[in-house]
Amino acid sequence: MFTDSHCHLYHEYYEDLDSLINESINNKVNRFINDGCDRKSNEEVLKLVSIYDNMYGTLGIHPENVNDYTDADLKFIEDNLNNPKIIAIGEIGLDYHYGKNNKLEQIKLLELQLKMAERYHMPVVIHSREATLDTLNTLKKYQVKGVIHSFSGSKEIAKEYLKLGYLLGVNGVITFKNANIKEVIKEIPLESLVLETDSPYLTPEPFRGQQNNPSHIIDIAKFVADLKGISLEELSSITNQNLKKCFSKIK
Ligand code: NI
Repeated sequence: MFTDSHCHLYHEYYEDLDSLINESINNKVNRFINDGCDRKSNEEVLKLVSIYDNMYGTLGIHPENVNDYTDADLKFIEDNLNNPKIIAIGEIGLDYHYGKNNKLEQIKLLELQLKMAERYHMPVVIHSREATLDTLNTLKKYQVKGVIHSFSGSKEIAKEYLKLGYLLGVNGVITFKNANIKEVIKEIPLESLVLETDSPYLTPEPFRGQQNNPSHIIDIAKFVADLKGISLEELSSITNQNLKKCFSKIK
């Protein structure tokens, strides 16, 4: 059985979460890490993890919401970190895809949440898009570990993250034609990889164009197992172990 280590299972995207989860279990995906991005999704994640036994959650303010958060939203995260089903602070990070005009605000928001993670000994889930150098330089300042979600960088960048003790999250991007990440993943030790869908985004081939869902972990897993020359069973066992090492609250 596999874990979807990063997804956004909110009612906004999925009308019928019960069926989605049952269908995923039929497809060998029996555990979900549901990632919050703002106050609204953080509240929903908290509600859903109390309903579904096999769902864990992370709480965080995503860099795309840098202009909309309040101190109370950060306090809300802090106040809920002792929940046994909340396993990390995330999704947090830096995203310069739409420009660097609010770069300093993004770094400030990331640092506030990294400090919180450090203070509460919580791992983090990092989003980094077109912001590798600033992400690395910021992460280096804190004694925190976690996952670099949706990793798609070079071998050199991968090594930098691994040196800091981070795991790399691999998703449907690896199935895309011309994805350089295939060559990079071949060289990354299995002990540093975890699998994710990032549902509802980043649907793997040959399903691109459809809404993503956690069942597609199996399509990503087949691809990675092939690249690494191992069986699906070996891959599920090692990626689940990696997750347990990183997220100590996972049972
Ligand atoms: Ni995400």
